Amino acid sequence: MEPVKVGLLGLGTVGGGTVNVLKRNAKEIARRAGRGIVITHAAARDLNKPRICDTSGITLTSDPHAVVNDPNVQIVVELIGGDGLAYELVMRAIQQGKHVVTANKALIAKRGNEIFAAARDQGVVVAFEAAVAGGIPIIKAIREGLAGNHIQWLAGIINGTGNFILTEMRDKGRDFNDVLKEAQALGYAEADPTFDVEGIDAAHKLTILASIAFGIPLQFAAAYTEGITKITREDVTYAEELGYRIKHLGITKRTKQGIELRVHPTLIPERRLIANVDGVMNAVLVKGDAVGPTLYYGAGAGDEPTASAVVADLVDVVRALTSDPENRVPHLAFQPDALSDTPILPIDAVETAYYLRMQASDKPGVLADVTRILGDHQISIEAIIQKEPAPEMQTASVIMLTHRVLEKNMNDAIAKIEALDAINDKVTRIRVETLNAGK
Ligand code: HSE
Repeated sequence: MEPVKVGLLGLGTVGGGTVNVLKRNAKEIARRAGRGIVITHAAARDLNKPRICDTSGITLTSDPHAVVNDPNVQIVVELIGGDGLAYELVMRAIQQGKHVVTANKALIAKRGNEIFAAARDQGVVVAFEAAVAGGIPIIKAIREGLAGNHIQWLAGIINGTGNFILTEMRDKGRDFNDVLKEAQALGYAEADPTFDVEGIDAAHKLTILASIAFGIPLQFAAAYTEGITKITREDVTYAEELGYRIKHLGITKRTKQGIELRVHPTLIPERRLIANVDGVMNAVLVKGDAVGPTLYYGAGAGDEPTASAVVADLVDVVRALTSDPENRVPHLAFQPDALSDTPILPIDAVETAYYLRMQASDKPGVLADVTRILGDHQISIEAIIQKEPAPEMQTASVIMLTHRVLEKNMNDAIAKIEALDAINDKVTRIRVETLNAGK
């Protein structure tokens, strides 16, 4: 049988990795797919740039439309990124009846609802395994492997760059910017690295995971996003003293009131497996009612790990070429007419535990004032540490762990604590999750 012809948009890190994996493993891939899969046409912005792959046998162009419009191309792989030109090209491919494979999380999180509707109209597949957690087959695991479960929550380290930075800061005391530069040089970071460190990239991925876990439309705009730029070495050290690690987590949870969808630095008990996921590695912990907790771990970024997911999608699409559209796995795991309108909760309505750090004047009654304010807001304290001030300092660091409380109560309490004369500076607040199997 003739090999399936693929057009590639973008020949950067992931594009180069995809060319290499498809070539190196061509025989194995053909045995799985039932046909060969070859890239015949590829577009790159700068054709003179050095490549990590051998492009012989591939027609190269700087015009991505030429690839999409090539009548021989049956599947378009979009690896350009962003939701501008990439959106235009993906929609054009769909309108021409071509299947699409994309690694573009921003595109799916922000415009996936309309892209999937267009794909359904045209009877084509839009596959996006590489959009979340790089090489970990997390979309397939949740969408197909856990299809018998009522999924209760999931929590993930889903940005490799951020995890790499937090790990290097903790283990080697390295400076934030220095580690970020290394992540950029290694090809992990987004084109705009604030997407990594401010949690936007993780929020794109979490939006996608929440939709396939709970059967809700993609709602990126409703996600709460907080980055890691304010995490200090002190907080990392105090968290360790208390038996916790700080990780940048994406968390989504079903509650009676609605769905939580939030990305923020989080203290998690150090004995949890996910607390020990370091460097550029990603992990997603999913809690289903039948299976219990399941953990998925692997490289979340990089050329070949991401290519692994792109190529797996290509194999799936090739197998689907001969299946009726109504017999395919739905894009968002649930049938499109069965999506739920459960609301996404604002962060004020989320309940969690907290780590608090404040600088308090070293005089009698300060701690009593702070604990009274917390008590007035139904906030119960689980642990407290006071660090004696250095001889030249007038203030002591007070670190507290609280029990679970509504975020709104915590915000009100923090405002009152910050208004105390004896409290200097802002109160540092980091959310705490135990990620208990039972809850
Ligand atoms: N910038 C992303 C990360 C790349 O660091 O995880 C993979 O999506």
